[in-house]
Amino acid sequence: MANSGKFDGVDFSQLDIELLTPELRSLGQGFRCVRGEFVTYWKQGRIQREVDAYLCQCWISRVENALAGYITLLADKLQVEDVLLVEEGVKYRTFPAVKIGLLAVDRRTKGLGVRLMEWAIDYVITEVVPIIGVRFITVDALYDSDVEPPYDTSGFYSKLGFEFADPTEAMGEPRTFTI
Ligand SMILES: CC(C)(COP(=O)(O)OP(=O)(O)OC[C@H]1O[C@@H](n2cnc3c(N)ncnc32)[C@H](O)[C@@H]1OP(=O)(O)O)[C@@H](O)C(=O)NCCC(=O)NCCS
Repeated sequence: MANSGKFDGVDFSQLDIELLTPELRSLGQGFRCVRGEFVTYWKQGRIQREVDAYLCQCWISRVENALAGYITLLADKLQVEDVLLVEEGVKYRTFPAVKIGLLAVDRRTKGLGVRLMEWAIDYVITEVVPIIGVRFITVDALYDSDVEPPYDTSGFYSKLGFEFADPTEAMGEPRTFTI
């Protein structure tokens, strides 16, 4: 493929995921994303500031010194209209959750979005659930009706098994998905 260069021949389904440490913050000079704001979030330091303020943690994947993608995780609370987990004898409307905050990949990658999401789900199950109550993983799926056709990430999350937290929000505005 023309213009893919540094990402040529990479198997993104196997790429390592690393915690964003101060030494890795200088990566990302050539990062390109289908949504420019996700380049800005990285380059203008929003993510780094949020990490410093303990508002999220960020993990990245890279090919040598080229940032390939990033994902942030933060604590969340899922609230639903109808009680859930009745069959488990709980019947609550509010649940502890982990949120996927920002997720973005370089547009020259393939399959990295799924790789980062599958890593995050596995990470929450193996590392977070054993030490603190977490029942759901949430994401506010980006939906932008100012472009034609509308930019809609809900299909990406549906493929991963996410469902609308509120089925009545299934069309239109930003929606919270849960798994
Ligand atoms: C959303 C994003 C992370 C997806 O990552 P990606 O690497 O493009 O996704 P993958 O290549 O792993 O694609 C996985 C599958 O999801 C599909 N998919 C990707 N985006 C989709 C969308 N918006 N709607 C439906 N399906 C989608 C792909 O076609 C692919 O399907 P396939 O396996 O049948 O070929 C990426 O497009 C991105 O960085 N977007 C800009 C930032 C953004 O919108 N982040 C999400 C904020 S909530």
